[in-house]
Amino acid sequence: MPSMYHQVLIVGGGLAALRAAIEAKDAGLGVAVFTRVHPVRSHSVAAQGGVNGALANAEKGADDTIEKHAFDTVKGSDFLADQPAAITMTADAPKRIIEMEHWGCPFSRTSDGKIAQRPFGGAGYPRTCYAADKTGHALLHTMYEQAVKRNIKVYEEWTVLSLVVENGVCRGVIALDLRDGDIHPIGADAVIFGTGGTGRVYGRSTNSIIVTGSGMAIAYQAGVPLKDLEFIQFHPTSLFGNNVLITEAARGEGGYLRNVNGDRFMEKYAPKAMELGPRDIVARSIQTEINEGRGFPGGYVALDLTHLGAQKILERLPAIRDISINFVGIDPIEKPIPIQPGQHYTMGGIDTDVDGATTLKGFYAAGECACVSVHGANRLGGNSLLETIVFGQRAGAHASQYVKGNGRGRPSEDLLFDKLHEVRGRWERLRAADGPEDPAAIRDEMKATMIEKVGIFRDAQKMTDAVETVKRLQDRYQKVHVNYRGRRFNLDLLRTFELGMKLQLAEVIARGALDRKESRGSHARTDYKDRDDANWLKHTMAHHTPGGPRFDYKPVEITKWQPEARRY
Ligand code: FUM
Repeated sequence: MPSMYHQVLIVGGGLAALRAAIEAKDAGLGVAVFTRVHPVRSHSVAAQGGVNGALANAEKGADDTIEKHAFDTVKGSDFLADQPAAITMTADAPKRIIEMEHWGCPFSRTSDGKIAQRPFGGAGYPRTCYAADKTGHALLHTMYEQAVKRNIKVYEEWTVLSLVVENGVCRGVIALDLRDGDIHPIGADAVIFGTGGTGRVYGRSTNSIIVTGSGMAIAYQAGVPLKDLEFIQFHPTSLFGNNVLITEAARGEGGYLRNVNGDRFMEKYAPKAMELGPRDIVARSIQTEINEGRGFPGGYVALDLTHLGAQKILERLPAIRDISINFVGIDPIEKPIPIQPGQHYTMGGIDTDVDGATTLKGFYAAGECACVSVHGANRLGGNSLLETIVFGQRAGAHASQYVKGNGRGRPSEDLLFDKLHEVRGRWERLRAADGPEDPAAIRDEMKATMIEKVGIFRDAQKMTDAVETVKRLQDRYQKVHVNYRGRRFNLDLLRTFELGMKLQLAEVIARGALDRKESRGSHARTDYKDRDDANWLKHTMAHHTPGGPRFDYKPVEITKWQPEARRY
């Protein structure tokens, strides 16, 4: 069978991927989307609280500006964000959000009919546009409608296993059709990844199980560096017990955090911003209360919404109420919700510029799998949905220009089939594997190690242990068995294949964190408590080698604001 070919091949079905696809289609190119789940089941759908943009619609935010949004983003990042990138993102924000409005996104409204905006952490103004507490759902369905309207070809239940590279140029992908288990070579002039983060390397994650980091690992294996992967965000409020996200909007709407004594403990840690401090600070504060014995038995604190009243909760936080009732039997109108911090977001990722371009010609990335870098060491809530629509559009536009100027048409069958045979060989060897090691046990140990030892509070001893454990798990992974050898929808095999990728990413995270001898944003070391701009105001770049990552560093672009102490 001859190979398939698309001019612009998009991997992923979430907001960044679909936005890129729309841009490329509107540029007149042949576009196809390959996604392992139906697009509206992509993880973007789980985003709750909102999307940031300096629209200045809120009564108390009438003097908000793009510059203030950019500064809050840079300060929130603990000054590790590249400032021109943060300025680009915040400048594009209003037009991308209004575009979504014009495409039909059902945003909540102010009394005079504008898009409603609520306060979020680390932001000086209410600039988070929202659709109740289901903003990701509203945006993703709207985006998908636009893709359908344009007849964009979507290959559902396909997943990409490798890039195809020829002389430093990306020429396509090798992809698995989950429905029949067949693996195909697909040529392309440009490939754009919108494949999401790598949250499921960690235990206690708010991320859905499809958030495996496979896109990051595939790029890394193809020689594209990963940037700043040691910066992992822990969302302050995930539901105690199963870590379902409890949106920051609950605090934006006025919710309180209370310890076992009933105290609003944020007074001690962020006296001005209180519950609306940035996520790294609020997560650490909660964990400190728990560690020092002021949490509730089992290890959680309370998110108290009872004073907000039924009407506000029903109107602005209906999903949070449903989640709380369904999973822990608590109606937040009546009783506080038990919460603990949970892994939520990967600040680092595939190194890109503001147009999604990478070091590999013809290969682009956008959304959480990419590191532009706009989030630096700590992302502000509401800037994640924003990056998807801003950088998805930019990657789609830039890739389209690239294809129009450099398009080489179909790659040779020899190139594609050589790569196919290599990848299929790896896949089939794993399908036949019957070693003594259980992949689920390896996965569980990896997740527990990462959350316990490369979690909210880190030190050299714990991270050294983590690196050694991950190395041991990589060895054990060589001796795994698979439980199911069928071809159709073999998710057991796919998860085992991806476990190898996750272990590579876990090593990059743990080793990058161990090497970074300072505390900055989400990377909080108890043995190096201070930020060290003299030595560590730089991006970590991880390069793949057969023996593990090789690290070097890249300067941060500081063009407007000199680093200062972060006070909230
Ligand atoms: O809390 C939230 O609603 C999450 C938002 C985000 O991660 O940006």
